[in-house]
Amino acid sequence: MIAAKHCIGLRVSQARSLEAEPPVRIRKIAYTRVDAAEAFLNVGRQHALMGKRIVIVLGHPDPGEGRFCHALGSAYEAGAIEDGHQVRTIDVGRLEFPLIRTRREFEEGVVPDDILAAQDDIRWAHHLVICYPLWLGTLPALLKGFFEQTFRYGYALDTGKRGGTVRKLLKGRSARIIVTMGMPAAIYRYYFRAHGLKSLESGILAISGISPVRSTLIGSVEKPDPRYRAKWLETVRELGRCAQ
Ligand SMILES: Cc1cc2nc3c(=O)[nH]c(=O)nc-3n(C[C@H](O)[C@H](O)[C@H](O)COP(=O)(O)O)c2cc1C
Repeated sequence: MIAAKHCIGLRVSQARSLEAEPPVRIRKIAYTRVDAAEAFLNVGRQHALMGKRIVIVLGHPDPGEGRFCHALGSAYEAGAIEDGHQVRTIDVGRLEFPLIRTRREFEEGVVPDDILAAQDDIRWAHHLVICYPLWLGTLPALLKGFFEQTFRYGYALDTGKRGGTVRKLLKGRSARIIVTMGMPAAIYRYYFRAHGLKSLESGILAISGISPVRSTLIGSVEKPDPRYRAKWLETVRELGRCAQ
């Protein structure tokens, strides 16, 4: 029940500071309020007892120290573990894999060992957290290369032998994307229309069945005031506690 309390607090007090949080849609329900409240408490109890399985994908190509992206990943992990969730981390900057260059490689090529391990982790997860710095308006190339390697036909989606309807193979998982950037987040969202973020949300995650996909945009990260980053680390830690 402690976890559920945190999450209500997060919604009310911090929702405004989370960029791109989609509005909560309230579905019309046929059962009574008492049943709904009971169901909510049961979900809260379940998560408090078992926790969620979370995979954090650190999408920074630089494996060195001092990257804000890594600090955000650690903050999320710390919050999640505090509230009883299980966490695995994929540090893309430390993996060994080549870029995919041909359609044949994408469809039939040998999957490198590090990518096989990443696929196992993602299969294991209930929730993915993907954290990366904005580079030239979108994902760093290494992270895009990682998704091309990992989200192959037959693993993330499938169109069958004759190229029919797309089958989404990663259904049942949710995701949060955390993006850091030098510009103010509002400029990226409203002037640039967050084009790189949308390509990840819809062209990679949603098409594979991952839903809902939420996002947090952290702008102006070069600000010299250390309190600015500290505030964001606390916000992300809270997200980890709620496994959101
Ligand atoms: C190669 C490169 C490209 C970048 N492109 C952008 C950009 O298009 N827009 C932007 O706002 N910031 C851009 N930045 C700034 C980074 O987003 C920012 O430094 C990063 O989010 C800080 O996080 P880190 O400490 O994890 O690297 C770029 C930085 C680098 C190194």
